Amino acid sequence: MPKNIVFESVKIYDIGSKGQSIAKSNDGIVLMVKNGVPGDVVDIKTYRKKKNYYLGNIIKYHSYSKHRVEPLCEHFGLCGGCKLQNISYDYQTKLKEDKIKHSLNNLFENVIIDPIIKCKKKFEYRNKLEFSFTQNKWLTSREIDDKNKIIDRRGVGFHKSGMWDKIIDIKKCHLQGEPSNKIRNGIKDFAKKNNISFYNNRTKNGLLRSLMIRSSSQNQFMVLIQFFENNKDEIKLVMNYLKNSFKEISSLLYVINDKDNDSIYDRETVLYDGKSYIEEKINDLVFKIYPKSFFQTNIDQTIKLYQTILDFSDLSGNEIVYDLYSGLGTITQFIAKSSKKVIGIESVEEAVTSAKKSAVDNNINNVFFETGDMKNIFSSNFVSKHGICDLIITDPPRDGMHKDVIREILKLNTPKIVYVSCNPSTQCRDLELLKEKYVITKVQPVDMFPHTDHVENIVLLESK
Ligand SMILES: C[S@@+](CC[C@H](N)C(=O)[O-])C[C@H]1O[C@@H](n2cnc3c(N)ncnc32)[C@H](O)[C@@H]1O
Repeated sequence: MPKNIVFESVKIYDIGSKGQSIAKSNDGIVLMVKNGVPGDVVDIKTYRKKKNYYLGNIIKYHSYSKHRVEPLCEHFGLCGGCKLQNISYDYQTKLKEDKIKHSLNNLFENVIIDPIIKCKKKFEYRNKLEFSFTQNKWLTSREIDDKNKIIDRRGVGFHKSGMWDKIIDIKKCHLQGEPSNKIRNGIKDFAKKNNISFYNNRTKNGLLRSLMIRSSSQNQFMVLIQFFENNKDEIKLVMNYLKNSFKEISSLLYVINDKDNDSIYDRETVLYDGKSYIEEKINDLVFKIYPKSFFQTNIDQTIKLYQTILDFSDLSGNEIVYDLYSGLGTITQFIAKSSKKVIGIESVEEAVTSAKKSAVDNNINNVFFETGDMKNIFSSNFVSKHGICDLIITDPPRDGMHKDVIREILKLNTPKIVYVSCNPSTQCRDLELLKEKYVITKVQPVDMFPHTDHVENIVLLESK
């Protein structure tokens, strides 16, 4: 079938895994479009054929879904984040719940899923944003139409949906509280006025490369600028501007990165002013967050997530607990008071060092950590060293757990496992293997990221 086909009066019925809307024609052809809301009836013109579906654009609306709302953000539709902003929050969370139900009910019978824990804050819920500088910002259709205007294409913002080399210049992002927007817009104007160059990710030149802003509920702000070149004078100019203009910044750092990719994990960060970390509180625990450390990005929901993990664990104080993929040791310490001892395993050394330090600061002395790749560390030697556990908590990255890790878990016959996941499809894949010895007894989805299709899910498994 050729492309550029028009499908008339089709109904959008779902949202796909990357936030696109899905429609189906009368003869069963699947169509993926942007910005549709389940319930909209539309005409779609296709522009590309994929293996099992067509990509298309909505060219006419016949009727609008009752779940459709006006997006708050002026960048909605172009920016790669917050793709569900045109769907009411209640319906967004219903879609997330349905996604979990659908994947679990395909595998297990009679699974009861508790209603999703919703976010109170629908905006300004993130404590970390990363922006990219560009010499060549994406032009809006209004800018393209305005033939007479000479456009300054320098900008700072987020990637256009699905495009690594196209940056949308962001004027206001609603995901993080102030002074986040003031810092980003301030540095952009300052650099323009002082002719400090912006990075070009195709030609690989330009000084200003990226901006990371981290905040905490303790009103502390960390700003890290990534420069492409070690141009000392201009770096000083930018850093002094930030230091003198934003008294809120308690940790000001930079990094030089002349590699092709943006990752700073193998680069040395330079502290320019203030402390090398910011602090975050989870109940009475304090954590130091360093520039390269992973930390949960929605603190209010993290507390609810951790409380559910603790409730599911149902600890008496006498248990040995393994906390797999422990990051900064936040779950490890959250459950420590209720356990005999907790052992965390994590591959990032900086995170483990920080976890050990914060445990000392928090006066917790029944937690231990091992550093390394889970599939190597989590073995019979580990069990002999730390003792047979009564509970496993596992919180793997999006890819889920390695098969060897699951094999090791199955050998242990641990009575209970609490599996926390940010990716329902890899979680289901792993649960299918664990099904050999376990049944699911509780499921609690948590919405950490309103307006995105991401959902966190906690599953309690008990041995058969
Ligand atoms: C989803 S985070 C969970 C962190 C922590 N539980 C929390 O609540 O903040 C996953 C963690 O797994 C770590 N990780 C990823 N791959 C790993 C591996 N192969 N072995 C050990 N840790 C790994 C990451 O560095 C990250 O800290």
